[in-house]
Formats: sequence, C-alpha cells, structure tokens
Amino acid sequence: MGDYLLEMRHITKEFPGVRALDDVHLAIRPGTVHSLMGENGAGKSTLMKCLFGIYVKDSGTILLDGREVDFRSPRQALDSGVAMVHQELNQVHTRSVMENIWLGRFPKTKLGSVDHREMYRRTKEIFDDLAIGVDPKAVIRTLSVSQRQMVEIAKAVSFNSRILVFDEPTSSLAETEVEQLFGIIRMLRERGCGIVYISHKMNEILRISDEVTVMRDGKWVATTPAGELTMEILIRQMVGREITNVYPEKTNVPGEVVLEVEGLTATYLNLRDVSFTARRGEILGFAGLVGAGRTELMETLFGVATKKSGTVSKGGRIVNNRNSTVAMRNGFALITEERRQTGIFGVLDVMENTTVANIRAYVKNRLYLSDRDMRKDTDWAVETLKVKTPSQKTKLRSLSGGNQQKVIVGRWLLTKPDVLLLDEPTRGIDVGAKYEIYQLMIDLAKSGKAVLMVSSEMPELLGVCDRIIVMSNGRIAGEVDARRTSQEEILTLAAKYV
Ligand SMILES: Nc1ncnc2c1ncn2[C@@H]1O[C@H](COP(=O)(O)OP(=O)(O)OP(=O)(O)O)[C@@H](O)[C@H]1O
Ligand SMILES: [Mg+2]
Repeated sequence: MGDYLLEMRHITKEFPGVRALDDVHLAIRPGTVHSLMGENGAGKSTLMKCLFGIYVKDSGTILLDGREVDFRSPRQALDSGVAMVHQELNQVHTRSVMENIWLGRFPKTKLGSVDHREMYRRTKEIFDDLAIGVDPKAVIRTLSVSQRQMVEIAKAVSFNSRILVFDEPTSSLAETEVEQLFGIIRMLRERGCGIVYISHKMNEILRISDEVTVMRDGKWVATTPAGELTMEILIRQMVGREITNVYPEKTNVPGEVVLEVEGLTATYLNLRDVSFTARRGEILGFAGLVGAGRTELMETLFGVATKKSGTVSKGGRIVNNRNSTVAMRNGFALITEERRQTGIFGVLDVMENTTVANIRAYVKNRLYLSDRDMRKDTDWAVETLKVKTPSQKTKLRSLSGGNQQKVIVGRWLLTKPDVLLLDEPTRGIDVGAKYEIYQLMIDLAKSGKAVLMVSSEMPELLGVCDRIIVMSNGRIAGEVDARRTSQEEILTLAAKYV
C-alpha cells in the first residue's frame, strides 16, 4: 500500500446478458503509464467508466491514494483528481473550443457573468503549454476530428488531475499529433501523474507504457512490466492462444480491369487530376500522409463529395456517382473513416444497423420487410465479423466501440458491391478481428470484386494489398508493387508534393 495512486480491486459489473467485468484488478503507480489492452468488448472502457462515475460497479473496491472512493458522477471524479478522455468525442458542436473546455466551470467576473477574456487567457495558456495550435475561439464544428481530439486531451489536462485516462486517444490522430500526445503524456508522468492508456496499437503500447494490463472477456489476464513484453506475448495474452500470422495468406489473383478513373478533380477538396485503374480480384492500397487526399478520393468516388472534372468507369461504362444512392446502385460501397461520427444509429438495434443500407433487398411484395432475411443476413455479419453482442435486438450504443464498427463494416458488405471502398477499415479493431477483416477482403477479391483500401498502417498495406498507390497533397505521387516495395520507398513518394 502507499505504492499505488489508484487501486481497483475485485471489480464486477453486469449488464443485461453480459458480465462485462468479472473480478478485475488494476493498480497504478504514480509517475507511470499503465496501458490497458484487450480485444473489442473485453471490458476496458467499462472498467474506466466504473472508475469515472459513469457506471456504478456491482461490487469491488476502488482506492485513491489508499482511501476508498466511489464516484457517482464524472463531476465527483474530476473534483477528486481523476480525468478521462473518452473513446467517443462528446462535444457541443455549435460552441467554441474554450466554452467546451470550461463548460460547467466557467470563470466568472466580479459581477457574476461569464468572464470570456479570462476563459480565453486560461485556454491559450494551456494550449501554449501543450503546443496545441487551435484557436480557443474557433467553433468545434469547424475543426477536424484530430483537432477536436486534441481539444479533448487539453480539457482533461486542464483539470490538473493526478489520474488521467486516455481511451483510444490516437485513433483519429495524425503521426505528428501522436508524437505531441506522447510528449504530453511524458510530461504528465514526470509530474507524478498516473496514466491509464487504452489502445489497440501495439507499437504505441510498447513505446509509451511502463506496465501493461491485459483483459479478456471481462477478466484480468496479466499485468506485466512493458520491458518484458513483445508483440507476440501481448497477442497471446489478449486472444488466449498463439497467433502465428497477423496477415492471412494471399490467395486472390487480380484479373481484368474493372474500375478506371481518369483525371478526377474535386470541386471543394484537395484532389487533383487523379488517374488509376483497379482490377477484379485485386486489393489496391492507398498510402500517404494525413491530408494527402485519400479520404477525399474515396468520398469523390462514392459521390458524397462533388467532382469538378474527370471520369469514372466501371466495366467499361462511364458511371456518374452523383450521390451515395446512385453510387450504391452502381455497385459501389464506402466504409468511412469516421464510422463513429457518421455511420452509427445508437438507438437502433444491431439488426437494424446491419441491414439499413441494404433495406431494399428485404422488401417483399413491395409491402413488407422480410424479418427472416434480415435476421439471416445479420447472423451472417455477426458470425463473419465476430461481433460480440448479446442479441440482434441489442441497441448498438451498448456494444463496445470496436464492435459497433464491425456492425458498420457488415452493413456495407451486405450491399454486395463490385467496388468496395474501405477507409481505414481496421481502425479501433483488435488484432484477432483485424485478421478476420483481412481474410474477408481477400475472399471478396477472390469472388471478383475490386477492393480499395486507405490505410495509415504501413505494415497492413504491405501485408494485404497487391498494389499500392501513394498520394501526396491531393495528387498521385506513384504506384508500387506491394510485394517488392519498402516503407522507405512509400514514405519518399508520400512526401513528393508536400
Ligand atoms: N451500457 C451498456 N449496456 C449494455 N452492455 C454494455 C454497455 N456498455 C458496455 N457493454 C458491454 O460490456 C462489454 C464490454 O464493453 P467495453 O465497451 O468495456 O469493451 P472495450 O474493451 O472497451 O472494447 P473496445 O476495444 O471495442 O472499445 C461488451 O460486451 C459490451 O457490449
Ligand atoms: Mg472501449
């Protein structure tokens, strides 16, 4: 005792149909980074929400500085020096950055009204301290997802807490921002804070942690000093068995050209004169730095962003994907990068979320929706993607973050597209499920589809793609053979027009 800043003992938490936490332990020493790992649905976020007063634990003890605490609201947790950056961003889009940071604790003038000048000063001070280049007066809505994430991080730091929880903070950050966050975390560690860091990115975990606790199916598996860990050990602890390959065997064979893109230029986005082809049975990767225009390209192909000029042909015929409905009819599907923001209907259940994009396929006699077909397809998606859910009737918002994403992936696969556009398809998804998604991509390619994948994970591009197109500042910088190229070659191309 006394060694630990925070101790969680024998924590148990049940939801209808799921034992989310089963006798879990976690102990954080001051001045250390303690990572929490585990597959989607292992209970990581739930454990932290029990600490933070969002969920009430069923049993167990939480000690802060050796004293028992039991927060009933985030407010209480914050007042006692525990802050948390959530997996889902929870911001008021129409208000300014500084208002979001000081919400509920606005500095007041002597007369009792909100002191905007003081609020600006304090915000600026924190941002300068953390080297965050966001205008405190900017409206949240106008920021990029990564900037919004950095605002959340700054907010957590602003409470001067001794315990900081980061739940998948880097899933939407660019590399430079990840470095910035790591700088902030190191600074907090030096100040003696205890940091809980949740991520699926193993290289990050191995770099930043002092200790790593792994959970599986709501249970504690192991706590190990980071220095003793390797990727292999971590994977074994997480999935409970040996995984010899992170990537499935590539059995797809590219055939004839099915997609031809010629001189594609977007109206409002940074995308200029993009030309390439994709073959049936091919997995075509798109590499580049953040801002290279890869997401913009996918959105323009799918018709959610407007194109200024250029042509897209499928199977030799020019297609004009004016909007996403037309794009779907033309056999395109897009799994977007920001699934949590754009794709999820939290109050609808798993089945409704799975079948919504394909709803026309279930209409019988133009009259009613076939419940049986919908159930069957949902079963397929749940099975194939190993979605962890008590039932098809479970509301999507009560699934773990990663499992929500799998449902969205299943939704688009069910539209049976000829051209599948995937934007960061494995972000936030655990290693085991990543393998399933790669396997699925290969199977889809084998069945004659063209699969286009944007990814920021270089090993993933090299591991599953046939060819990789490298983009730089809205243009194509080059094309490489995934089997012969190297990370260096790709990075050099990525910097070509920067
Ligand atoms: N509010 C809720 N209602 C019902 N079940 C829930 C609720 N919150 C979480 N669960 C369930 O508890 C289990 C653990 O979920 P949790 O969100 O803690 O997982 P996680 O480890 O954070 O996963 P991920 O890596 O996908 O974020 C899951 O089976 C999930 O469906
Ligand atoms: Mg989670």
